[in-house]
Amino acid sequence: MRMVDVITKKRDGGELTKEEIYFFVEGYTNGEIPDYQASALTMAIYFQGMTQEETATLTQAMVDSGETIDLSGIQGHKVDKHSTGGVGDKVTFIVGPLVASVGVPVAKMSGRGLGHTGGTLDKLESIDGLEIEMTKEKFIDNVNKHKLAVAGQTGNLAPADKKLYALRDVTGTVNSLPLIAGSIMSKKLASGADSIVLDVKTGSGAFMKTLEDSENLAREMVNIGNNLGRNTVAVISDMNQPLGYEVGNANEIKEAAKILQGENVEDLRTLSLEIASHMTVLAEVFETYEEAYEALAVNLENGKAFNCLRTLIEAQGGDVSMIDDMDKLPKAKYDIEVKAETDGYVSAIDAESIGIAAMYLGAGRATKDDQINHGVGITLNKKIGDPVQSGEALVVLHSDEEDAAASIEKVKSAYEITKEKVEKPTLIHNIIK
Ligand code: URA
Repeated sequence: MRMVDVITKKRDGGELTKEEIYFFVEGYTNGEIPDYQASALTMAIYFQGMTQEETATLTQAMVDSGETIDLSGIQGHKVDKHSTGGVGDKVTFIVGPLVASVGVPVAKMSGRGLGHTGGTLDKLESIDGLEIEMTKEKFIDNVNKHKLAVAGQTGNLAPADKKLYALRDVTGTVNSLPLIAGSIMSKKLASGADSIVLDVKTGSGAFMKTLEDSENLAREMVNIGNNLGRNTVAVISDMNQPLGYEVGNANEIKEAAKILQGENVEDLRTLSLEIASHMTVLAEVFETYEEAYEALAVNLENGKAFNCLRTLIEAQGGDVSMIDDMDKLPKAKYDIEVKAETDGYVSAIDAESIGIAAMYLGAGRATKDDQINHGVGITLNKKIGDPVQSGEALVVLHSDEEDAAASIEKVKSAYEITKEKVEKPTLIHNIIK
């Protein structure tokens, strides 16, 4: 087989066979196919698209390019969740313990943050001593014992995707639905769960800005999952403003822990219950979504879900007193208010700008090697639809520097205030099964 024939076939709108897709993925991963031919093919895919079958085959080929995590040592139906990335997204810290509280095993492999979105592992490390590196045996043992473990990704998962994603990044081919869907799903499938719930964000702070694009991406991913034998459900949720009121690390853990203690931060609690409900239905613990939602809501009130968070922290060597007394969590030196300059209603909060403002404070990484400052971050006092008066604080910056001018400017540019009353945005736009 010659790579040039695979490229021209796709360029002319043909459907690639399994052999052709594997020839490309294997050859590119082992270095036999050069970057220039791989970029020509990804560009051809960008313009011609892929059928459902081609996309599923590409995904499976990328899974097969590396190691997969064998979770068969964990008893029960393993359900994973994945978010396409948002600002203030601390849903994993709520959903993990919540789902575990009804006996569903959650074996969560997570990553670190880069740019305007934070990483699950970085946020967890706000708790002193909490260890996210562990052997595979300990990871599986913890899930069997406590129904929940969160660890850094181990093993060489989907190396073809790693190489292709880096190539797409510099050849203008990131934004192709089959390539994005295949990329995300290859990593999820290699992580070994039986079923997957995807939280596909939509809006100004999301990878996909329009509802139509987000739904199309969700459909592609659900098709891949179902085609490859994993029940997959996608929740399309709003990212036209940060989720909840806290953006950072320790402050996000605190906000999540409060939900687990029964507090109601409306959007965060609702989305967490939504995702957890689909996860537990997929795990066949509940028959219907409604039944799941009701039972899970009870576990937010009665302390069972919070106890699962405590157990996770203890099992992974973390200082659980920091969650019992949240004043012990890392805190920044200065609280700086950013005030509204007019009266009106908040009509938009650009989530990406808020994420960048938090990164400037040290809550996120501009480059891979930056250190995270767990105590800094942003508290939003006002969200879309809220009335505001001139001089009122829109947000409070938690900063270790007295001068946070760059973050202040960024936050100011993120907020739009109008005279007319504004409706609160819809949180859950669609469910795709
Ligand atoms: N995230 C991924 O992992 N892959 C993509 O292609 C896009 C976003």
